[in-house]
Amino acid sequence: MDPPNLSLLILLMFASAINAQDPYQRPFCNTTGNLTADSTYLTTLTTLLSSISTPGSLSLTYGFFNASATVSSTSETVYVIGLCRGDLTAETCRACLSRSAIDVSRFCPDQKVAVLYSENCTVWYSNYLIFGRVTTDPDYQLFNVNNVTSPDMYNAALRSLLDDLRGEAAAGGSLRKYATGNTSVDFNKIYAMAQCTPDLTEQQCSDCLETVIARLGNCCAGKMGARIMAPSCRFRYETNSRFFDPVGEPLPPPPSPEADAPTPPPSPEADAPPPPQGT
Ligand SMILES: *[C@@H]1O[C@H](CO)[C@@H](O)[C@H](O)[C@H]1NC(C)=O
Ligand SMILES: *[C@@H]1O[C@H](CO)[C@@H](O)[C@H](O)[C@H]1NC(C)=O
Ligand SMILES: *[C@@H]1O[C@H](CO)[C@@H](O)[C@H](O)[C@H]1NC(C)=O
Ligand SMILES: *[C@@H]1O[C@H](CO)[C@@H](O)[C@H](O)[C@H]1NC(C)=O
Ligand SMILES: *[C@@H]1O[C@H](CO)[C@@H](O)[C@H](O)[C@H]1NC(C)=O
Ligand SMILES: *[C@@H]1O[C@H](CO)[C@@H](O)[C@H](O)[C@H]1NC(C)=O
Repeated sequence: MDPPNLSLLILLMFASAINAQDPYQRPFCNTTGNLTADSTYLTTLTTLLSSISTPGSLSLTYGFFNASATVSSTSETVYVIGLCRGDLTAETCRACLSRSAIDVSRFCPDQKVAVLYSENCTVWYSNYLIFGRVTTDPDYQLFNVNNVTSPDMYNAALRSLLDDLRGEAAAGGSLRKYATGNTSVDFNKIYAMAQCTPDLTEQQCSDCLETVIARLGNCCAGKMGARIMAPSCRFRYETNSRFFDPVGEPLPPPPSPEADAPTPPPSPEADAPPPPQGT
């Protein structure tokens, strides 16, 4: 027998160490842009990524992180987006993003543009504007190898559920665009979720989800579970097992009820001058 390939063995050990808790981690390192040849870009990127871990960071709100910075003495800007699954608590989300921020720089040490998907969060950065842009590639597709017994009926129910969740997620507002639901088919249940980064508009979110949901036919038709993750949006479904927690970090109450109640008169404080600035 040949001696084991030592470098492969080390690589595998390294990979399994960083993958220990999340077998679904999947990096995509864009081949354009060489980071090692550009240390100021790396410094800027590292600063942005490490700000994810700053407790109380204003750039991380309700499971969404966005931040950008100009690379000093260049015209280049680094953009970073982090997104947690909508059912995570604030602490779990920060932990997932912090870990992904470290892992992505290990997986993609030379790249200016990269995405790291994992079970519960995604970290994505680039040297071109990614805020408010629908980005559906590179995507990561996973499916359960088991087939459903009545695919036509199952697919109809699944498509209808995913369409509902697409509309619900898209309508979610600027803090979170996330929806979950379930439906019954035969003696089975289908549980599903759909989510966009909340910097997208309602229309953009809907378009993004429509694009990735349309990919189901090619990868996963008739499978008992699947997920497709793209930089701007993602969805997942499973049969007979709910994979999401019922509640995540609660959103703040909406600004004010609209049609139902008459607009209250302005409160006396509303027009008051701002308090003096302390020094
Ligand atoms: C993802 O989040 C869910 C729900 O909070 C949790 O049960 C699961 O362990 C998390 N997965 C990983 C890989 O951390
Ligand atoms: C990036 O640049 C460094 C230094 O110039 C070089 O050693 C390395 O091979 C380059 N990497 C890639 C992926 O082009
Ligand atoms: C890779 O980066 C280039 C620009 O740096 C961009 O045009 C392209 O869309 C990126 N590709 C992917 C798959 O992200
Ligand atoms: C599911 O169906 C496909 C195509 O008909 C088949 O190749 C595959 O082996 C099936 N998978 C299982 C787990 O039965
Ligand atoms: C299934 O969906 C219904 C609403 O359609 C909801 O009331 C129920 O809580 C959901 N069940 C689970 C287990 O998520
Ligand atoms: C990104 O975050 C900043 C706050 O850090 C916010 O003002 C801005 O609106 C955000 N941009 C998008 C596109 O979400």
